[in-house]
Amino acid sequence: MTAAATVSAPAVDPGAYRQVFGLLPTGVVAVTGLDINGKPAGLVVGTFQSLSLEPALVTFCVDKSSSTWPVLRSLGRFTANILSTDQLNVCRSLSRKGEEKFQGIHYADSALGTPRILNSTAWIDCEVLSEVVAGDHYMIVGAVKAMQAGTGEALVFRGGKFGEFHQWPVPAPTATESAQP
Ligand SMILES: Cc1cc2nc3c(=O)[nH]c(=O)nc-3n(C[C@H](O)[C@H](O)[C@H](O)COP(=O)(O)O)c2cc1C
Repeated sequence: MTAAATVSAPAVDPGAYRQVFGLLPTGVVAVTGLDINGKPAGLVVGTFQSLSLEPALVTFCVDKSSSTWPVLRSLGRFTANILSTDQLNVCRSLSRKGEEKFQGIHYADSALGTPRILNSTAWIDCEVLSEVVAGDHYMIVGAVKAMQAGTGEALVFRGGKFGEFHQWPVPAPTATESAQP
């Protein structure tokens, strides 16, 4: 189902928009499915988010110029593979345009038949629930059918660079805090 969202906003400088959102770290998720010949297809998104727990829903946004999204939309289901810090090569391959994106990428079939990329941090198998046209992107809502944690730390993207999450060292309690019952 595709609905058009009415978006009217004052003109914003594209450079400022990119600069500001470059400050916000995101995860890196490979959205994967199959084309009509059963060949794996996928793209990388930084817009993947949890949306609802009851029912379990997720969301992400795809540029209208994407050649892969129409393929996954026709299938009606996808796996969101949360990429790990060991999967920069997967990110590079699936964020390229072209036919042979899956060369050298190992995966197993989910119960929905969609590719679960091996060594991902987690997998979320979904059915496409709805899609809204929002400016130059589509906003997709997926209904979660199955999910599983894998291994490794999630890859992080910020300002055109990749990295990883580091927890701050836990500060020693102050004298006042230790004195409290
Ligand atoms: C870290 C990262 C995050 C990205 N996030 C998005 C996103 O949220 N939505 C999107 O449409 N493209 C995003 N892209 C770009 C797509 O992965 C890229 O345009 C892809 O090649 C599209 O290929 P396609 O034409 O085969 O769909 C991102 C790329 C990278 C490297």
